[in-house]
Amino acid sequence: MRFAFFDAKPYDRPSFERFGAEHGVKFKFYETKLTPDTVGLARNCDGVCTFVNDTLDAEVLEALADLDCKYLALRCAGYNNVDLKAAHDCGLRAAHVPAYSPYAVAEHAMALLLTSVRRIHKAYIRTRDFNFSLSGMTGFDLHGKTVGVVGTGRIGRVFIDICRGFGMKVLAYDKFPAKDAGYEYVTLEELLSRSDIISLHCPLTDETRHLINCDTIRLMKKGAVVINTSRGALIDAECLLEGIKSRQIGAACLDVYEEETDYFFEDLSGHILNDDILARLISMPNVIVTSHQAFLTEEALSNIAETTVQNIVQMHDGLPCANELVWKDGEIVHGSAK
Ligand code: NAI
Repeated sequence: MRFAFFDAKPYDRPSFERFGAEHGVKFKFYETKLTPDTVGLARNCDGVCTFVNDTLDAEVLEALADLDCKYLALRCAGYNNVDLKAAHDCGLRAAHVPAYSPYAVAEHAMALLLTSVRRIHKAYIRTRDFNFSLSGMTGFDLHGKTVGVVGTGRIGRVFIDICRGFGMKVLAYDKFPAKDAGYEYVTLEELLSRSDIISLHCPLTDETRHLINCDTIRLMKKGAVVINTSRGALIDAECLLEGIKSRQIGAACLDVYEEETDYFFEDLSGHILNDDILARLISMPNVIVTSHQAFLTEEALSNIAETTVQNIVQMHDGLPCANELVWKDGEIVHGSAK
């Protein structure tokens, strides 16, 4: 089998080549993203292997079907960039990698939080310049603070465990609360108004788009820290910026950004950034931005490649594929029986 692998980065190749070779799947690596303009690169392939910022809308999917592609192998958990109804209508089968290392993302969320509250990003730059002054470096203890976790799935639960290790109090909000969770579920409004730190771990859906907006920011405690390692559009970036400028938000830790597609994962250091909101956020001393790197650990990369190849083989061989995303009766069903 041949798969066109879009948005390929050097760190993707070793594990995909290894697992692909073991199972007879050859990947053709392309640095470009999948778009209506690049879809032709999938000619003579059985399918495409894509990541979070590839375009898989109806136009691209129809073009893939015209090229006789059959499979969409998403090498990520989120699938908000895929029109699964259109995929179904075109006869394309899709599978994702629902979990590869919740620890990678949850640990990154805590790394961002610690960096922010203890000003590690500032200290790193200062001491490299032999500036050993501590002015402006006062942080605060995490111990005893209240963290509000939105989304208590795989990643959210690991993040809760980590926070408890720091002696933090946990509040949780989830559309589908876990039973016997051992932490307090409250409404979103209550979580926002009682938390010192708010961390987002829910998926991006129509319902959660701009979950953090000008109205919900007003509900937060003054000086709350907001962490987003989930999907950029959970936060209305313009409102976030206003919230930071008005000091309502004390700090923001962002691994994702609403309009990240044109910027994240690329070296744009020689360019002028066109996105004024992103540029302004990055310029703030209390905002830390990483470019969607929370997943990037050796363990996660290996698990992603292994599961992606397994998904391809299962779909191709007509075996049950638990990670298949099936469009059925107007909704997405997880897992195929055949
Ligand atoms: P999961 O599916 O295990 O958990 C998601 C949780 O969100 C579930 O408990 C679900 O009930 C809850 N949820 C669904 N709709 C909700 C709503 N409207 N309001 C509140 N909660 C809601 O997913 P997992 O593995 O924990 O991943 C969470 C998110 O993290 C993913 O959707 C993805 O967007 C993001 N992610 C980011 C990565 C990165 O590198 N920055 C890497 C991997 C995932």
